[in-house]
Amino acid sequence: MKQFISVHDVNNINALVKKALAYKADPFADRHLGADKRIGLLFLNPSLRTRLSTQIAAKNLGMEAVVFNVDKEGWALEFEEGAIMSGNTVEHIKDAAPILGQYFDILCIRTFPSLKNKEDDYSEMFIKQFIKYAGVPVVSLESATLHPLQSLTDIITIQENSKSENRNSKLKIVLTWAPHIKPLPQCVANSFAQWINTWGEAEFVIAHPQDYELSEAFTKGATITHNQDEALKDADFVYVKNWSTFTDYGKVYENDPEWMLTNEKLKLTNNAKVMHCLPVRRNVELSDEVLDGPNSLVTKQAGNRVWAAQAVLATLLTSLEGRTE
Ligand code: CP
Repeated sequence: MKQFISVHDVNNINALVKKALAYKADPFADRHLGADKRIGLLFLNPSLRTRLSTQIAAKNLGMEAVVFNVDKEGWALEFEEGAIMSGNTVEHIKDAAPILGQYFDILCIRTFPSLKNKEDDYSEMFIKQFIKYAGVPVVSLESATLHPLQSLTDIITIQENSKSENRNSKLKIVLTWAPHIKPLPQCVANSFAQWINTWGEAEFVIAHPQDYELSEAFTKGATITHNQDEALKDADFVYVKNWSTFTDYGKVYENDPEWMLTNEKLKLTNNAKVMHCLPVRRNVELSDEVLDGPNSLVTKQAGNRVWAAQAVLATLLTSLEGRTE
């Protein structure tokens, strides 16, 4: 593994999940793997889980982790090639990234989309510029279109909580849109769809209202429906997430509370486990009764962020040593 920005950087999803679960069982098994190595965690946007879990994962591997809130403490960065920097940006990424590449052995970056310009966001210009100029492995802490550490966590959580030994049929996983008051990125939904489709070990259904189609680049292979009740039938896992519109980019068209997952809706499922990446708007996206109920995996899921990050960092460190995964 040379970088971690999407599922395409992973040779074998199940092997990476196995590695993560091994770290969960024995967090300090590779405590010397990252000795004398430094990781930089750069945030251009807020975070709770990603920031802390990645720091803990790095520490478990013996690495020194430095967090830099670029948006608050750094110079305003320019990402456009050939930009005439007479506006608000102070430092070009082609000047900053090679310096960061000298300071750190691995660079991790969170860069949300603008949700204003689809072409710019979906070109992944920010993270691609870091990769181009840093000269060290780059890990996405959520980019404009994807959140791969979250998706790896999600598959770890699904594997951990499925009783596959007695199954005659494939697991049914449903990704359902939920209401929200603000336009949110499509990253988590895109990424979840990309990983579940690539994993290929489940029946995968995506439910959303009309006009909330995601990019086919990520959803191809899934069954897509506008009927949430139909989608929920016999589901083993329900992943709840809001996203803003993709086609007419970055809009909130509707907030029909009927799309909020409730215990009544859960009755349609195969006693499904409920997932959400967090943070969650209680009683808007998901009801209290579901979040606080026995089917909710959200806290366990967030806990697994550490093991996903640790498996990825360990794989990158092994590659840096010139060994194979
Ligand atoms: N799920 C997730 O990425 O959480 P944070 O935004 O708090 O890191």
